[in-house]
Amino acid sequence: MQDETTLHGEHGTSGGPSPVDNDRRNFLTKVGWGSLAGFLAINSYAFLRFFYPRVLFEPPSQFKVGFPADYPPGTVNSQYQREFGTWIIRLQDGRFFAMESKCTHLGCTPSWLESQKKFKCPCHGSGYYISGLNFEGPAPRPMDRFKISIAEDGQLQVDKTIKFPGIPGKESNEVYPQSLLKA
Ligand code: FES
Repeated sequence: MQDETTLHGEHGTSGGPSPVDNDRRNFLTKVGWGSLAGFLAINSYAFLRFFYPRVLFEPPSQFKVGFPADYPPGTVNSQYQREFGTWIIRLQDGRFFAMESKCTHLGCTPSWLESQKKFKCPCHGSGYYISGLNFEGPAPRPMDRFKISIAEDGQLQVDKTIKFPGIPGKESNEVYPQSLLKA
């Protein structure tokens, strides 16, 4: 005659799944639903990101920089350097131009040294005249200029979409007379 244990299984008396089996099944079910929920959450996020792309707030490429009378002749104005990467320069003869504040060697930002009347790059020592023409250091060419004009309200307006790239060994005042504004 068989004993009780053999007749009713090792773990229980009813012949159904044991508590251990139930726990395992519940655990696996939860893992399955959890994975599905995670999958759906990630896909929903990607879906929403598609419709709401991250917005990059870049400064406009056209901007006004005040009235001509605000600029004394023979000065370099660095007021728009940080936000727009541009200097507004007024030559002694009264003409204006807008120059990109970016060294043509490796892109550092030079400083205008008023006492020496030159731009000096802090990275590798390139030097430029007020016109942007390079004369010392490793810079390969003059700094670039942007279009500057007079807006309808009489203010100076810079348009960075129109660029006059510096040409090696050439003076931009002569190569690009259209970069100069009489105002
Ligand atoms: S980046 Fe200006 S000299 Fe090198």
